[in-house]
Amino acid sequence: MMTRAIRIHETGGPEVMQLEGLELEAPGPGMVTVVNKAIGLNYIDTYHRSGLYPLPLPTGLGLEGAGLVETVGEGVDLAVGDRVAYCSAGFGAYAEAINLPAVRLIKLPDGIDFETAAAMMLKGQTAEYLLQRTYALKAGETCLFHAAAGGVGLIFGQWASSIGASVIGTVGSPEKAELARQHGYRHVINYNTENVVERVLEITGGAKLPVVYDGVGKDTFEISLDCLQPRGLMVSFGNASGSPEPLDLQTLSNKGSLFITRPTMFTYTATPEELQRSSEDLFARVLSGDVRIEINQRYALADVQQAHRDLESRKTTGSSILLPQGLS
Ligand SMILES: NC(=O)c1ccc[n+]([C@@H]2O[C@H](COP(=O)([O-])OP(=O)(O)OC[C@H]3O[C@@H](n4cnc5c(N)ncnc54)[C@H](OP(=O)(O)O)[C@@H]3O)[C@@H](O)[C@H]2O)c1
Repeated sequence: MMTRAIRIHETGGPEVMQLEGLELEAPGPGMVTVVNKAIGLNYIDTYHRSGLYPLPLPTGLGLEGAGLVETVGEGVDLAVGDRVAYCSAGFGAYAEAINLPAVRLIKLPDGIDFETAAAMMLKGQTAEYLLQRTYALKAGETCLFHAAAGGVGLIFGQWASSIGASVIGTVGSPEKAELARQHGYRHVINYNTENVVERVLEITGGAKLPVVYDGVGKDTFEISLDCLQPRGLMVSFGNASGSPEPLDLQTLSNKGSLFITRPTMFTYTATPEELQRSSEDLFARVLSGDVRIEINQRYALADVQQAHRDLESRKTTGSSILLPQGLS
């Protein structure tokens, strides 16, 4: 079948992304064709576009979407018309339709619509593994999460507070501070106007924190280490402000026998069992109302350049989605 997809032939700014016609082959064994109803926008897409995370070129972009199974290949345990979502099945989600391996697709429960699914699978599974498995956050513990009003941030704050943790968030504006407070953050620090380490010392009565989650990278890396108590865990999971400088291991010793990890969702959902369990935990949180998914930006697929510009210039909050059928 013919589809239209966003492709890049070279890395660079948002302008390298172009909408192209593409012939989609019939799905082979173990594969299915999904017609996307909504597509998730994630910060990692900008790293693939810019070349920070290199991909073989030319390539499609985008990791996350939700839609209907259109055609199934041999040996697939899904039926035409099934409602599915995905976020770690391959590149090229920025498209009207895509071929994907069936084992990486998740069937959607009735209570979750396509837009919500596309807005939450990657960001929600990230929140899931960060707070349940990278560090098992417990009721009564306090943690710090940077970029609290972002896509992962709004989900993380609600989920962590629903288990009784006390979450401190950082944000770049007063409006984002208010949004973070409405999504589970007990304390919010504007890192453009306040000293984060001093505020963390004040909030924790000098104790500092057992864990910091840092998806901002370069600009916050040192600050994050300084917010940790001895033997605390630094979770560096993204680079929205650029990659952190290389780390001298001695720094971890000097700052109090710190631990550090650089996790990615892909290793935490590598097996079909882990993928399924992570998705089910996320669905349960959303269906129970513990976590509300905020879709604060919607774009037509053809307007993806603007979507990337907005994300990279810190104009967005919560989740952003692309709509292959356009804005209604
Ligand atoms: N490792 C993993 O498994 C994994 C999975 C998902 C996401 N991530 C990472 O998690 C982070 C959040 O992802 P997301 O998709 O939810 O994005 P997002 O948080 O919605 O957007 C990024 C936010 O980072 C903040 N930021 C700070 N300095 C920035 C700068 N120089 N340029 C742009 N933004 C800056 C901005 O918030 P303020 O204006 O409030 O500062 C911005 O809104 C990203 O780093 C992403 O790569 C990692």
